[in-house]
Parts: sequence; C-alpha cells; structure tokens
Amino acid sequence: MADPSTDAIPNVAGPDPAQDAAIREICARHGDDPHRMMDILHDVQARFRWISPASMESVAAATGLTRVAVEGVASFYAFFALSPKGRVTIRVCDDIIDRFAGMPAVRAAFEAALGIGLGSTTECGAVSLEETPCIGLCDQAPAAMVGDVVLTRLTPERAKEVARALLAGARPEELVCDGFDGLAPHAKATRQVANNIRLAGNVLLAPVPDEAGLRRTMAIDPAAILDTVEASGLRGCGGAGFSTGRKWRFAAATQAPRRVVICNADEGEPGTFKDRVLLTERPHLLIEGMTVAARAVGASEGILYLRGEYAYLRPLIDEVLEDRRARGLLGRSILGAEGFDFDIRLQMGAGAYICGEEGALISSCEGLPGEPKTRPPFPVTQGYLGLPTVVNNVETFCHVARILDRGADWFRAMGTGGSHGTKLFSVSGDCARPGIYELPYGHSVAELLEMSGGEDAAAVLVGGPSGTMIGRDAFDRHLTFDDLATGGAVIVFDGSRNILEIVEYYMSFFVHESCGYCTPCRVGNVFLQKAVAKFRQGLANQADIDYLRDLSATIIETSRCGLGTTSPNPILSTLENFPLVYSAMIKPNPDRLRATFDIQSAIDGARKIAHRRSYIHDRDFSE
Ligand SMILES: Cc1cc2nc3c(=O)[nH]c(=O)nc-3n(C[C@H](O)[C@H](O)[C@H](O)COP(=O)(O)O)c2cc1C
Ligand code: SF4
Repeated sequence: MADPSTDAIPNVAGPDPAQDAAIREICARHGDDPHRMMDILHDVQARFRWISPASMESVAAATGLTRVAVEGVASFYAFFALSPKGRVTIRVCDDIIDRFAGMPAVRAAFEAALGIGLGSTTECGAVSLEETPCIGLCDQAPAAMVGDVVLTRLTPERAKEVARALLAGARPEELVCDGFDGLAPHAKATRQVANNIRLAGNVLLAPVPDEAGLRRTMAIDPAAILDTVEASGLRGCGGAGFSTGRKWRFAAATQAPRRVVICNADEGEPGTFKDRVLLTERPHLLIEGMTVAARAVGASEGILYLRGEYAYLRPLIDEVLEDRRARGLLGRSILGAEGFDFDIRLQMGAGAYICGEEGALISSCEGLPGEPKTRPPFPVTQGYLGLPTVVNNVETFCHVARILDRGADWFRAMGTGGSHGTKLFSVSGDCARPGIYELPYGHSVAELLEMSGGEDAAAVLVGGPSGTMIGRDAFDRHLTFDDLATGGAVIVFDGSRNILEIVEYYMSFFVHESCGYCTPCRVGNVFLQKAVAKFRQGLANQADIDYLRDLSATIIETSRCGLGTTSPNPILSTLENFPLVYSAMIKPNPDRLRATFDIQSAIDGARKIAHRRSYIHDRDFSE
C-alpha cells in the first residue's frame, strides 16, 4: 500500500509548483531558519523520499541560502538521499559484531527476497536496501533499521518474511508486533529493543526518586551547584573524561547574552549502546540533569542531539519533554523560580559518526555539514551560534542529577583514584550475557568477562575502535580513566576471530566516517587500511610494520579532531599487544608498497571509498 501523503505531490527532480509550495510550507514551519536545515531536510525527505535538485532550490530560496550551501548539508549525511528511494529503506547494520553474528546470510536473504543488491531500490519502488555502520544494537545482533523501526536478532528466514511483507505494502511498524500503533511511545521503544540490563549499580540503574536532584538544585545557588559537581569528581562519560564541574565553570564564567546546554546522544562509537538504554530507561533523569546544568551555568536553551539511528526513540523523548513542560519542569519559571527559564529542542542527526565529536555536533545543530570546528575557541566560550555551550554525554547528565540528590561525597566515595562513581559498560561480542553492566570504576577486564560469560575471550577491545585492544595477558588491567578508559564499549572476541580482519574492518569504518576536511585523516586512513589488507593477504614485509607506525604517527599528529587522532588505534594497539599477528603474516621477500605509491590514484581511491561527495572538500586536493 503506497503512502498517500507521498503520492499526492509528484516526486520530481525538476521544478514543480506543487512541490515548491509544499517545501516552502515545510521551511516556514521551521521559521525559514537556515540553522534548522537538518529539520527541514528531514521533513523534505520524509515527504518526497529524497532531496532532489529542485527541492534544494526551493529550500535555498526559502532560507536565503545558496543551492550549493543546501547541497553541502544534504550531501554530507548518509541518511539524506540525493536520488529517489523506495517507500521504505532497509539499512542492515554492517558492524563487525553483526557480521560475526550472521549478518552476511541475513543480508543475502534480504537481497534474494527483494531481488536487488545493496544500494538499490526494487523496481516497484517499495523498498531500498542499504548498509550502515553500527546502529547501537550489538547486544542483539544482527540488527537492521527498517524505516525508523529497528529489528533485532535477525535470521535469514525473518529477513525474507520482512522483505515479503514490505513488498506486499506493510508499514515498518506492523513488522514489530500486532497492535504497535495502540502502544504508548515508551512501549513502542521497548517492544522493539531489549535493554539487556545485566547488572544495575547504585547510581543510574538503581531506583531513582523523581526530581530529587532538581529540587535540591533549586535550594542552592548556581555557584554551589558548580562546587558540588566539581567536588564529586565526575568526569565526562562520552570518552574524553574531562571534569564536568570545570567545564561548566568555564561556560558560567563567560560573559554572554545567552548560554546553551547540549546533550550528546549521538552514540556512534561501534560497540557502545549504553546511552540507548539510558534514553529508554532514564529519560526523565537525563532531562533533569540537563536542567541542573542550565541552572548552574545560566543557560536558557537546550538541545538534545539524537542520532538518526535512534529515530525510534523520538516519540518517547518528545513525550517526556511535553510531560515536563506540562509539569513546570521545563519552560518559563521552572518549579516557580522567577527567571529560571529553560527549554530543550530535539535535534535529529542523520547518520554521521563524526557528529558525536562536539564541534561537529554543534555544526550539525547549526544546520551545517557535521564538520569539527577549529579549537580554540572551545565550545564552553564560543559554541553553538557563538554562544558559551556546555556539551555533555547522556550518562554524564544522568550522573549529575543523582549527584545533586545524594551529594558529592556519596559519588566520590565510589570508584577509585581519579575515576569516581559508576560507569555503564556496553558488553558485546563473544560472551554469553551481552548487555549493560553498571559498575564502580576500578573493576578488571577479567571480572567483567566473568560477569558477562566472556571467559573464552582471546582479545577485548576496550573503548571501541578508538580505544585499546588487549590480549589475555592484560585482562587484569582496570577499567579506569588512568588505565583502560572507555566511553562504554567493551567488545569481546574469542580465539576463532581473525584480529587482522577486525582491524581492517575498523580502519574501513574510519575511512568511511572521516569528514574529509584534513588530508592526513582522509587519505592516510585509506593507506593504513590498504596496508592492513596487505598483511591479511600475506604480502607484507618487515618494512611495512614501520610504515604502519610512521603513517599512524603522522595522522595522529596532523589531524584536526579526535577522529583522526584516534583512528590508527586499532593498528597501534594490536601492533603493541598482538605483534605475532603481524609478524606471522610477513613474507620473506621485500614488498614494494611504498615503491609503487602513487599519490593521485591513492587520493582518488580514498575519495571513492569515503563516499564523500562534497565539492567543499575537493578544494583541498588541489591546494
Ligand atoms: C569522533 C568522535 C566521536 C565522538 N562521539 C561521541 C558520542 O557519540 N557521544 C559522546 O557523548 N561523546 C562523543 N565524543 C566526545 C565528544 O566530543 C565530547 O567530548 C563529549 O560529548 C563531551 O561530553 P562528556 O564530557 O560528558 O563526555 C566523540 C568524540 C570524537 C572525537
Ligand atoms: S581529523 Fe578527520 S574527521 Fe577530524 S576534521 Fe580532520 S578529516 Fe575530519
């Protein structure tokens, strides 16, 4: 059954008055504001299934931008389609965990049942089939997005059923369960995805009293909130581990007409899914934490940036925001406090891992391509629209609300050394009990493996691909900022896995996700991936090990943002901890990798592999 709303208006590439009028109406709904470009493009795509050249002209005219600027945004994000798509797009998750869990057979079943390959649309226009990196469901792989719905633990049989149902006109929602539409938004989310909470700790997943942290906040002045958060020792849970209290102090101390609080719910690091669980289980606690932050730094505007892969959580978050406005917990004079005005808008991402980097996230919120910003200035002094901006991870905000309720000492007493409180670990891969474990900092990897049934592990990747891969001899190392830091991901691999296959996969991930702004990251990672492939094929020689190290060092030193400075980590940590994996693949004869090195063809290859169409980046090549 075709969607009548998309059939009413012709879906044309060229100028069309009816389409132009519909797009003008969409833009008007967003105040013709170029900073709302992400919302506008999402709506245009939802209406017409793709963003045609004519649509871009209409959007440009309405928002006062050039067509080139609109295309620059539309072409940056993987979920915006620049060619016609089917009524429903299936995006199978291409993460390595999904591959190991059987995704190749599931994908083949989709292809066979739909009669198309990846990147194509069925002739009848019903379904497009694509693949996408980690969608945050490694604990229930193989998984896929079907429109905005997610399907987990797929089998080839289920894939065939889903494909046939979609071809027969079913809506994605109908594939989840009967009566989906009758469920509350919250139930819609939990019916699709298991939260797999294996261990609830004392802070975030323990029973949480309603608004206790926010009420306590209202009883003290903003300076005392800053003191409490700083004294708790809380460090950011998104990966970098910066002191939350200190970050807030910088923002509060910067003179400005307005300040902004942004929640980073982009959660794109492969193997990480703890924010997904917090968004589902603790959405009120998250918004409470953001509101505490607003009170502390004097912010009036909030943005919750939700990754496009979590679109199925949007109704839940919208409902929570509405509920809080109705209860006086958001909006004007929060809890009756004159002058405490703070509200939050939900900003949907559109399939770009780099948007988790805070500068890129801010760019995306501003309606721009998700490119990191040059630092300094740092967001705390000049962030969103040039205003002082606090960006924190979902888990960090949830912690804040609990700290305000229970006090800094309570939180500081948990954990160890410079790592206070608890942490949510997303455990996946070759273990019997994948899921979420809330533990105080300081447990060893071996202890976590025992809890999760991963005793057969031969390698564990702590912190996702930008983290560290360790072997059995290092399982007694500790999960802390000072030893093995992680934003949450702990990925378990047993002895049957090929380390070089894993490394090559993660390098291909970074190649795909590089925003393309700087040459070392855009091109260097392609070379690294190719060099790893050479080891896998048994074609490398001793000099290639030096080559891997040298090129990695160059990329780390010269890249502008954290993606480039961490992208060689899968190689560096396996060279360090699994040297035999490389030396065993070295062939006796010297190879000519560098002798045959041709910069232009390598750059062309990089461009092709990175799928980046932006003409903005092309300038770099000739400069
Ligand atoms: C490539 C890249 C991706 C990132 N992805 C995320 C993410 O998905 N979620 C997140 O909270 N932080 C992510 N970060 C870290 C953010 O830049 C930022 O440090 C964090 O949101 C700050 O919040 P916190 O202090 O509460 O950790 C990423 C960083 C980089 C370099
Ligand atoms: S390091 Fe990579 S992701 Fe970061 S700005 Fe440069 S090209 Fe973009």
